[in-house]
This record gives sequence, C-alpha cells and structure tokens, in this order.
Amino acid sequence: MTAEIITEVTADAADLSVWPASTLPLPHGDLAVGGVSLAEAAARFDTPLYVLDEGEVRGRCRMYRDAFPEAEVLYAAKAFLSRAMVRWVREEGLGLDVCSAGELELAVTAGFPPERIVLHGNAKSPRDLETALRLGVGRIVIDGPSEIARIAAAVGPGERQKVMVRVVPGVSAGGHDKIRTGTDGQKFGLSPTDGSAQHALARILDQPSLELTGLHCHTGSQISEVKPYLVALCRMIGLMARLRDAHGITLPELDMGGGHGIAYRPGEPALDPTALAGRLRAELVEGCAAARLPLPRLFVEPGRAVVGPAGIALYRVLAVKHTGEKVFVAVDGGMSDNPRPALYGARYAPRLVGRRSTARVRAVTVVGRHCEAGDVLAADAELPGDVRPGDLLGVPVAGAYQLSMASGYNLVGRPAVVAVHDGGARVLVRRETLEDFRVRDIGV
Ligand code: LLP
Repeated sequence: MTAEIITEVTADAADLSVWPASTLPLPHGDLAVGGVSLAEAAARFDTPLYVLDEGEVRGRCRMYRDAFPEAEVLYAAKAFLSRAMVRWVREEGLGLDVCSAGELELAVTAGFPPERIVLHGNAKSPRDLETALRLGVGRIVIDGPSEIARIAAAVGPGERQKVMVRVVPGVSAGGHDKIRTGTDGQKFGLSPTDGSAQHALARILDQPSLELTGLHCHTGSQISEVKPYLVALCRMIGLMARLRDAHGITLPELDMGGGHGIAYRPGEPALDPTALAGRLRAELVEGCAAARLPLPRLFVEPGRAVVGPAGIALYRVLAVKHTGEKVFVAVDGGMSDNPRPALYGARYAPRLVGRRSTARVRAVTVVGRHCEAGDVLAADAELPGDVRPGDLLGVPVAGAYQLSMASGYNLVGRPAVVAVHDGGARVLVRRETLEDFRVRDIGV
C-alpha cells in the first residue's frame, strides 16, 4: 500500500463512526461494506440502492442476546422486514414483534416460529386477528377494551390465547413528538391513571379463552437515556403489585417495548443496550423484591437499533443548483424512499463515495427528486464543494424506517435492497418497476 493511500485511509477512518463496523476505506474515496465496494454495487445494481450489511444485523442481534441473556428479545419488524431479515433474526435467536397480518404472514411463511411472535396494533383488523389465531401467534397485545371480547370470541373451542395488555406508563420520552407513546392523550394503550387499564385487566381475567401472561409498555422511539425505561419499569411493577392485591394473580411476563436510540450522525448520543440491560435487571430485582413479587420474564422489542446502522442508502447526484446562499444537491431518490426528514426532521450525514475530492467541504442541502420543497434528505450536509452530477452519495444508518415507510410517490418506484456479506452481494428485494404499478392499476 502506498503512503498516499495510508494517509487517505487514516483521514477517512475518522468519520466512519456511524457506518457498519465492516466499513473500510478503499482507494479513490470508495468504501467497502461487508467486503463489497459501494461504487461497484451502485454500478451493478443501479441507484437508488439500499445496501444491508448482513454481518452488522447478525452482530447486533447477538449483542442483544448477550446483553439480555435471560430476556426474550423481539426484533420489531416494522423497522424493516424481508424474508432474509426473518431468517437472520431467527438464526440469531431473537423473537419477533409484528403489527399486521402482512408482517405476521410474511414472517411465518418465511419459517419464523409463530409462538415466538407478538402481535401489536391499536386497531387490529378482522384479518389481523384471524391470521394471528390461524397461525398460532405467541401473544396478542391488547391495546383497547373492544379487543377483549373480539379476541375471546374468535379463539377456537377448548383453546386459549396468550395475551398481554399495553399499558400507558406515564413517561414522556422519544426523539420526536410523533414517536412518543408513553403518556395519556395519544392513541396507544390503556391508562392506569383513569383506571381503564385495571378495568381491562379485570375483564380479561374473566375470559376463560384468554391467558393473561403480562403487561406491555412502549414509551417511545429513538430514546437515548436509560432513565425513562427505569421510571416506566417501576410503574409496571407497581401495577403488577396492585393486580396481585386485587385479583391474587402474579404475571409471569413483562414487556418493556423498544425505542432504543441510535446515532445517525457522528457524535450523536445513543442508548447502550448493555447498560440498559444491566440497569433494567437491577431495578427489576429490587422493585420486585420490594413489592414481594416473583421476577417476571423480561421482553424487549428493539427495531431501529438492530437494523438501522446496518443499512446504507446509495444515491446518484442528478443536479446541483446554487440558489442565493444555498446549494441544493439533488439525487435520484428522496422522500419516497426516506420520508423521515420530512416527517420528523431527521438528520443524516451523507458522504461522497467513489471519488476523492480535495475541494473544501461546504454545507449543502441534499434533496430528492419529488415534486415538493419538503423533499429534503439531508439539511446542512457537509460535502466537498465540487459535488457534481454523476457523483455517488452514501447515507449511513439507513436500515430502519426508510424502506418500511417508502411510498409510490410520483411513481418513482421503491429501490432495490442488496445484502452484502463476506465480499458477496445479492438482491434481497428487487427494484419496483413501472410494470409493478401497471399490474396493480386494473381500472379503465
Ligand atoms: N415496540 C412497539 C410496540 C413499537 O411501537 C415500536 C415502534 C417498537 C417496539 C420499536 O421501536 P424502535 O426500537 O424501532 O425505536 N417511524 C418512526 C419510528 C416509529 C416507531 C413505532 N413503534 C421513525 O422513523 O423514527
């Protein structure tokens, strides 16, 4: 390796902290992820392209298993789901959290054991419940009073369905108002404050076809501190003790939901799952001892923290426009593959890939190709001043809630997903084509 390349490697390595652990700088500003050159992947599979580092996903699953050896770790499928993802999660020993018949059916038909799946949802459709009971889902999380009789009536004769109850923990936490679910006044769960949680729990206990296994809570998403989880845990233990006093039952399970925050840009705070596990365990042991309750089995439901950092979005620059003070770098994707900046003001750190530039870095706005001004992918992105059409941009931490929330806006078509591993690349989900839109459009 020449001295020039070594200098390049050292300089590049400094700001790869939010990229997958397998990321390596290559000559000419290219990067390898999972042993695959991103510039070559873009050329071979076209752009926009989502690259998923299989080793990073598996490594993160293992990290969770090691951090929570006694708990059931459920991967929250809403972050990203495909058949390969189902297989990786199963092989790494995690369970699954789903919230629709679609996610459930995809998982089970891809070989995931239904008894290790938990079904959520504030508005479960008849099809959701029919699919859950038909496939033998492990647990259904009851989110509202009307579900109790519906599920009880749908359970087959002589059978019992395990259920949990989603309780509002009364804790406000999360990266944005739209993803805070821990307090009264939002659509999820049953509140212990107004007694609706206690009322629902009593009714469930009266249903012979329902087996109440535990309480569930999910405070919010993109939470970077342990404290909100500890406060929520205390409240759940308090409610479990009150249930024991009122009904003489002790619940064997407690699901603390997901929401574990990650860094999207270098230097941003992230939740450390190992620290969270240790503090939750200590609080659980202490709280249950104080309330004279046996230790319930803990469940956690990380989605973003499993798959987010494993994904990279690759875009080709189509146009660069200087308007007054601003520079707009427009790429071939946008809010149809990543609505997160428009929805939550999410921030990303794109990077020029596959070309080495010596131009001074400047702040630009990376925008998409869609027909609205809010179609921004990265505000204040630091890119070399000579970025030009044809350049390739890589956006790290693109694995969660981008493709799973992608849309058909402007009939641009959703990008392909390629898995990279040990130097090999393979398509997991093919690119959406005009033909796909045509096939669905059957009217005249
Ligand atoms: N469990 C439940 C019941 C949930 O509602 C969620 C996320 C999770 C687990 C997983 O949360 P995670 O660990 O992935 O933060 N679209 C938003 C995030 C919405 C999260 C919805 N529920 C975003 O792009 O930030």
